Amino acid sequence: MAERGNMSERIYAVAIDGPAGAGKSTIAKRLSSGLGVIYVDTGAMYRAMALYMIKKGISAEDNDGISKACQDADISIDFADGEQVVILNGENVNGLIRTEEVSRMASITSKNPDVRTKLVELQRKLAKSKSVVMDGRDIGTVVLPDAKVKIYLTASSAVRAKRRYDELTAKGEKCDLAVIEADIIERDERDMNREIAPLKQADDAVLVDTSDMGIDEVHQRLLDIVNARIG
Ligand code: DC
Repeated sequence: MAERGNMSERIYAVAIDGPAGAGKSTIAKRLSSGLGVIYVDTGAMYRAMALYMIKKGISAEDNDGISKACQDADISIDFADGEQVVILNGENVNGLIRTEEVSRMASITSKNPDVRTKLVELQRKLAKSKSVVMDGRDIGTVVLPDAKVKIYLTASSAVRAKRRYDELTAKGEKCDLAVIEADIIERDERDMNREIAPLKQADDAVLVDTSDMGIDEVHQRLLDIVNARIG
C-alpha cells in the first residue's frame, strides 16, 4: 500500500475466487479483519437475487422473467460489526439466503446476463472507494481485473465434501458424504462451464490448494501473498 499519492492509490483489492466449499468466505473474513478492510461476499448478492425470484414466484426456467424482475430487485450492502448485511428492497435477508432452495436457485439465476450486469456494477462500486477483500467466482477475471492481489483458492472435491460433512454433522444435521460430494462436483461443472463469467483462475492469480492445509496455514499463506504484492 503506498503511503503517498492520492486516495485511489492507497485503495487496494484482494480478489479471492474458487469453487464452492473451498473455504473462501472463512478465510476472506479472517484476512479482511486482520487487514482492517471490508469483506464483500458476492455469493450473498446472487443468493439475495435468487430469493427475490423465489418470492416473486418466477420459475428458474423463465430466463426472460428473471431478466425483467431483476430490474426491480434493489440489492444493497451494509456492514454491522464488521459483518456484511445484504438488504433486499429494504429488508435484511442474511437469515434467509442460506437454504438449499436459495442455493439451487442462485446457481441458475447467476447465469443470467442481466443479473450479472446489475450485481457486478454494485460490486465495482463497493471496491471503488474502499479497500476490500472480495470473494466469488469472477472477481479476479471480470469484476476487479486490476485487483492488486488475486488468489485462486481450491481443494479437491473429496476434501471440500468432507469439510462440509463435518460442518453439518457438528450442527447435528444428518447427511451423506457421497451425496455432498456429488453436489459439489455438479456445482463445479455449472460454475466452470457457464457462458458468462465462468469460474476460472485469472492469469495473474496465485493458486492456493488447501487440500492438505489447516486454516492457520492457509491464512498465513494468504498474508504472505498480500504482503508480497502490496507491502
Ligand atoms: O459462493 P456462494 O455459494 O454463496 O454463491 C452462490 C451462487 O452464486 C453460486 O451458484 C455461484 C454464484 N456466484 C457467481 O456466479 N459469481 C460470484 N461472483 C459469486 C457467486
